[in-house]
Amino acid sequence: MRQVRLVTWAAIVALVAALVGLWATGRLPVRLADVKGALNELPFAAKFGGPFTLTDQNGARFSSARLDGKPFAIFFGFTLCPEVCPTSLLELTKDIESLGTDADKMNYLFVTVDPERDRPEHLKTYLENFDHRIIGLTGTPEEISAVARAYRVYYEKVKTKEGYTVNHTATVYLMGRKGLLVSTLAYGEKTATRHKKLRALISGEN
Ligand code: NI
Repeated sequence: MRQVRLVTWAAIVALVAALVGLWATGRLPVRLADVKGALNELPFAAKFGGPFTLTDQNGARFSSARLDGKPFAIFFGFTLCPEVCPTSLLELTKDIESLGTDADKMNYLFVTVDPERDRPEHLKTYLENFDHRIIGLTGTPEEISAVARAYRVYYEKVKTKEGYTVNHTATVYLMGRKGLLVSTLAYGEKTATRHKKLRALISGEN
């Protein structure tokens, strides 16, 4: 009995040693390089967001390079969203108006998480309900998925009787002029707090 146990243990030790060997030489799916890559994800703000190219509500390609040097607010949603998106865009519209001429010192982006239904013409019609400075962006499902991943935005199609709806992150991300995450606006956040954050974003060095 004791001998059997020893043999079992020896087998386990040998197996572990073999796995460690494979891992170190990069033959296992989890490689040393990947672990180092994950560590490089820090600091969070420095790796949040990043360059993208999508299509705007006029059907033109829109590169994030056009945002260089100006802070921006970015929000993800979809035009058929029953409540959260129209409310957020209405709040943002009021914020923009309250900023006065300072409003032009930053950009405002609305990225659809429903690219199949939200084509440029749908975004255009929808955004006519809000401040005209809000830029609507769509793209291929792959392009949208990449941008959402970069901004850590969750979205998921959910079946309904009529077809589907999309659950999604409702946070507005406030990005500084260097493209780094500076702050966020939460859904339903107090007007005074929102304005304070937006003014800090515009006047800040980040
Ligand atoms: Ni929504």
